[in-house]
Amino acid sequence: MFKKGLLFVMLLTTFAFAAVACGGGNDTSEPAPAENGGQAPQEGATGGDAGNAEATSLYNANCMACHATDLAGGGNFPSLQNVGSKYDAGEIAGIITNGRNGMPAFQGKLTEDEINVLSQWLAAKK
Ligand code: HEC
Repeated sequence: MFKKGLLFVMLLTTFAFAAVACGGGNDTSEPAPAENGGQAPQEGATGGDAGNAEATSLYNANCMACHATDLAGGGNFPSLQNVGSKYDAGEIAGIITNGRNGMPAFQGKLTEDEINVLSQWLAAKK
């Protein structure tokens, strides 16, 4: 049952990426943000569904065990449902990368891009 769900999410991710790959190229309408806290701009993370699908599948594989299916946390694990009103994406990326107290460090386990996708997805949870 869990495996089926994960497979579905992975499939979604694949399709969503294909959609994003064709979606770029309108560079006249919106100027690129000059500064976003020292983070590299993330095509996938800002692309709505694509970022969500990738972030969800990363979350399910790496974070859900502690922070629960719906980000609700529980026990010693904090809820992440409103984490975006507490921290910005850069701060969240720092917590994921380096860990903190009972939170494991994901440096070397997730790529920088994966951490950025997760951080930006979580920063939007307000
Ligand atoms: C082994 C259990 C565990 C896993 C796996 C885990 N976390 Fe955590 N996480 C924690 C604990 C415990 C804390 C509280 C740390 C503290 O008190 O300083 C925390 C805190 C956080 C916070 C800060 C929340 C706040 O309100 O201060 C964020 C953001 C976070 N985790 C994101 C993630 C993400 C994203 C992943 C997956 C990449 C993840 N965590 C995986 C245990 C875990």
